[in-house]
Amino acid sequence: NPRRTPLIAGNWKMNLDHLQAIAFVQKLAWNLKDAGHDTAAVEVAVFPPFTDLRSVQTLISADKLPLAFGAQDVSAHDSGAYTGEISGAFLAQLECQYVIIGHSERRTLHNESDEQVASKVTAALKHNLVPLICVGESAEDLAVHGPSAVPVAQLRAALAGVTNAVDIVVAYEPVWAIGSGQAATPEQAEQVAAALRGVLSDTLGQDVADKTRILYGGSVKSTNIAAYMREPNVDGALVGGASLDIAEFSSIIRYQK
Ligand code: G3P
Repeated sequence: NPRRTPLIAGNWKMNLDHLQAIAFVQKLAWNLKDAGHDTAAVEVAVFPPFTDLRSVQTLISADKLPLAFGAQDVSAHDSGAYTGEISGAFLAQLECQYVIIGHSERRTLHNESDEQVASKVTAALKHNLVPLICVGESAEDLAVHGPSAVPVAQLRAALAGVTNAVDIVVAYEPVWAIGSGQAATPEQAEQVAAALRGVLSDTLGQDVADKTRILYGGSVKSTNIAAYMREPNVDGALVGGASLDIAEFSSIIRYQK
């Protein structure tokens, strides 16, 4: 779709401290420049831990590197007595463009509910951050409810507080495919991505549905990325493990359809 620039996003999770992040981002940018990477053709974003963000921001803005960046989570609150939380206002001040919301590791390990995810989406939009909303079913959900039911319900719930045309990104990450080496097939990813685009059309209108990028995530590698990118409703990837290897992540970015 000509209205959607593909997005390849690297979710570092709790890996790379701020010193490692500086070296990593410099090398990655160098690789991309060397390969003549055109960010207008494929956008690249990295999602480092909170403690790396200031260093990454400084590096990217000082050297005008062709990379976007964002945080892995955001508080639903603006400021106040919320020990350990990070506000969207702080992230915007650090020039984060994106923030991941509702990653399955937050939902599972921190019991994040659909309601909390929805409040975080509203908070991100309030601070002009683009929420990268993650949805996905567990193996058990898949067996019981079939392929699209849980991701569709999660996306509807996440958008509960969103009323007008907005800039968002959606990532479909089946829990059974994350870090397992057992990636969804391109057909599976396409089926759910198409259903998610239907939700966007229902809730936010066709125009938003047409311009919103829907990513696939879960054991994406340089050897399977091209097949996902050939699917009409898959507009990029959210990459975990493989985003920590510069050569591998660079070749994912340089996928050939
Ligand atoms: O957010 C990306 C992630 O959950 C996928 O992880 O390691 O399977 O690429 P991985």
